[in-house]
Amino acid sequence: MSAPHSVPLPVPLPLPAVETLPAGLVSLDDHEAFAHTRLDDQAWAYFSGGAADEGTLRANRSAWDNLRLLPRVLRPLAGGHTRIELLGRTLAHPLLVAPVAYQRMAHRDGEIATAHAAASQGAGMVLSTQASVSLETVARAFGAYAERGPLWFQLYLQHDRGFTRELIQRAESAGYEALVLTVDAPTSGARDRERRAGFKLPAGISAVNLAQLTPPPAHPGASLFDSLPGHPPTWADVQWLQETTRLPVLLKGVLHPQDARQAAALQVAALIVSNHGGRTLDTTPATAAVLPRIAQAVAGDLPLLVDGGIRRGTDVLKAIALGARAVLVGRPCVYGLANAGALGVAHVLRLLRDELEIAMALCGCATLDQASPELFFDPMS
Ligand code: FNR
Ligand code: LAC
Repeated sequence: MSAPHSVPLPVPLPLPAVETLPAGLVSLDDHEAFAHTRLDDQAWAYFSGGAADEGTLRANRSAWDNLRLLPRVLRPLAGGHTRIELLGRTLAHPLLVAPVAYQRMAHRDGEIATAHAAASQGAGMVLSTQASVSLETVARAFGAYAERGPLWFQLYLQHDRGFTRELIQRAESAGYEALVLTVDAPTSGARDRERRAGFKLPAGISAVNLAQLTPPPAHPGASLFDSLPGHPPTWADVQWLQETTRLPVLLKGVLHPQDARQAAALQVAALIVSNHGGRTLDTTPATAAVLPRIAQAVAGDLPLLVDGGIRRGTDVLKAIALGARAVLVGRPCVYGLANAGALGVAHVLRLLRDELEIAMALCGCATLDQASPELFFDPMS
């Protein structure tokens, strides 16, 4: 019989520093404006910028704004809630933190702080392949909360297939519940704002989960197509991924209804309608404009999520009314992180959830399944 003192102590959790929230931040736009004063020019260009002329970046925002709500009154609201069903789980609300690379550039605690914040708020979190903290550390931080939402791993396929397989196995063993294959970034977009700012990753910040990857052979002078950084995925790779992992596979970055139908035919678990927050191909439509067509194309065969420009609870309600099951939020979480670490991210998520509840009540929706296109004002009818 072993002595009591030989019981192994639990490994201490990396707890983020407790900070105070700067006064006067009452909206996600307030967080953005404050973060602009905290981040240096290079980090600001990286986090806030989009591709080329940033037309898609702006359109993502204005499309949500331009949808006008036509509320219903006198409907029963008692017992209302924001719960949704997603991939076999009941979630307290439909908010997930989008995968955003290199979060330690916004705050020393980086993705660890984001994980504590998301899990404590019952939000989901998608960790980027290019995270600046190890995926195991993030999973341990996230897993410490009883009321946590889902934890998913965003995958960029790497040129070394064996390495990609090991990365998938690491995510599986660490407890990630799904893989999100990003399909809209075979290369990064034309990042004019980053180039103007002379952006480079600061010393000490890197994609640590790719540290063991041997860089692909360089092709000096070759065209982009000869020297793509990762392994641009094809439909055959989607099937390879489904055969390789026991986790559900989602696709992130689908905009064309025909691609959505092809994904449904392959029985992927869900689609994330996304234009990468306007960071890849400029001049694509806003996600709010594309979502209804994708919803029509897949006709309920698989759940849809959407991201891009979600900044208000009304945006979340509109996304759900247009056919999304849940939404992802990218930049605002980074701004919360820059402003007050884990507390700042938690505040951003809480603000959005509170605003969603207000929007639901004021539109006469006790539950999210009552949100439908009938909520929109059509000036032509
Ligand atoms: C991203 N995004 C992203 N997506 C992805 O699949 N893998 C990644 O590593 C990253 N990295 C990343 C970095 C930064 C700085 C930003 C702003 C975005 C895209 C992200 O997941 C999401 O699609 C958008 O950010 C959503 O738009 P909003 O909410 O930022 O407007
Ligand atoms: C970006 C990459 C990491 O948007 O997806 O910066």
